Amino acid sequence: MQGIVIHGARPVCGDIRVNGAKNAALPIMAGTLLTEGPNELRRVPRLKDVRILRQILGSLGMAAQRTDEDTLNLEVVDKDQCLAPRELVEQMRASICVLGPLLARRGYAEVPAPGGCVIGDRPIDLHVKGLRALGAEFEEDDETTIRVHAKCLRGTTIDLEGPHGSTVLGTANVMMAATLAEGTTVIKHAACEPEVQDLARYLNACGARIRGIGSDRLTIEGVDRLRGIPYTIIPDRIEAGTFAAAAAVTGGAIRLQNVCPDHMASTLRVLQRMGVCIVNDGGAVRVEGPERLQAIDFETSPYPGIPTDMQPQLTSLLAVSDGTGQVTEGVYPERFTHISELQRLGASIRRQEGGAIVRGEKTLQGGAVTAKDLRAGAGLVLAGLAAHGKTQLRGVHHLDRGYQQLEERLRSLGAELHRSCVPDQPPRTSHPQSDEACA
Ligand code: EPU
Repeated sequence: MQGIVIHGARPVCGDIRVNGAKNAALPIMAGTLLTEGPNELRRVPRLKDVRILRQILGSLGMAAQRTDEDTLNLEVVDKDQCLAPRELVEQMRASICVLGPLLARRGYAEVPAPGGCVIGDRPIDLHVKGLRALGAEFEEDDETTIRVHAKCLRGTTIDLEGPHGSTVLGTANVMMAATLAEGTTVIKHAACEPEVQDLARYLNACGARIRGIGSDRLTIEGVDRLRGIPYTIIPDRIEAGTFAAAAAVTGGAIRLQNVCPDHMASTLRVLQRMGVCIVNDGGAVRVEGPERLQAIDFETSPYPGIPTDMQPQLTSLLAVSDGTGQVTEGVYPERFTHISELQRLGASIRRQEGGAIVRGEKTLQGGAVTAKDLRAGAGLVLAGLAAHGKTQLRGVHHLDRGYQQLEERLRSLGAELHRSCVPDQPPRTSHPQSDEACA
């Protein structure tokens, strides 16, 4: 089985350039369905999710071509295709983003229920609620496929507040549909993540009229058409945060280039509270890990809070900190597949409802672990980098969805890891320090 073998306990040091944001690139790629003429998207990361969405867009009548390392050209050439292929859509959650654009531009969409990371319950009721309010009619005869049509979308006021805050891709879907609706749409409790802001800026550059970008209230005046444009995707704040955490957990020092420090302010604050030195250095951010991290309590929440997509990585840091810290997951209360794997490396963690208590250990010991979703995988790579001895990580296809050339780039910073065949994982034996240590 393909895996990553990590020889840990080496500091991660040097300069690293952060790629364009996956979670901005994907909805913007879907947004090109709304436009007429060529789009030239720059800083589109080379990731599995990007490849799959590109194939989905191809099957929806778009010409898609990589012109260089990070530029992707997209142009609608056939407006009659409204069916997204099941085998592709099932592989990624963000494919739900084609729903709003297809509906607005073509009047019909047929999209199988989307897949993606297994991080607890991931409903789409808010997407449906928002599109319905604009006039979309959903067929209810088949639970595995979303079939939706609309003769005409009309602007209205829509509240997208859910049980754990707003919805990022739901806001993207409704906002995209509203750009071509008749009249004015107001989205209350809109997600204001930087990736949603980037999508709104892209749409405005195409000719849309969206106000309130960055706030939780978006006002969208419908327009007749949008045109394709050149556009550069924002830097990936989660990739940047993961590299920063790698320096922090190994006592290393890195300089992050191509970052927006504002977008990752909450992550940088957590690292600072743990004793990490953070310095804004012109356009770059320098991160220097301490000899020992300090345990803290933290809670994830929608932007500008601590991102849920950094929770597994920060949990790994707590596992080797001085003291005991409490993790509260405010967006996906079940996003904890990394806990049992961290325990295999000797971490002292106890799950509790919506969170975990982590008692820091002096060191972790390398072992055999499995990534069960993308960010859990990132957390386990960090634990492996910190651990003494050899860690064998399975489930690396999850990492390929969100981190471009992760091993090569970590190696360029002095880490020792490589992709290799790894044996199947042995059954779990309870670790002497694990559950009861925090009970
Ligand atoms: N929710 C609902 N109803 C909905 C939609 C969401 O109740 O219709 C709930 C979810 O269950 C969750 C919360 O609202 O509790 C937030 O979910 P959201 O819809 O915002 O998540 P998403 O849009 O599907 C995006 C990112 C995720 C990231 C979340 C939260 C993309 C492609 N995905 O997902 O990224 O965790 O926002 O910030 O943008 C990742 O990159 O690893 C990843 C999972």
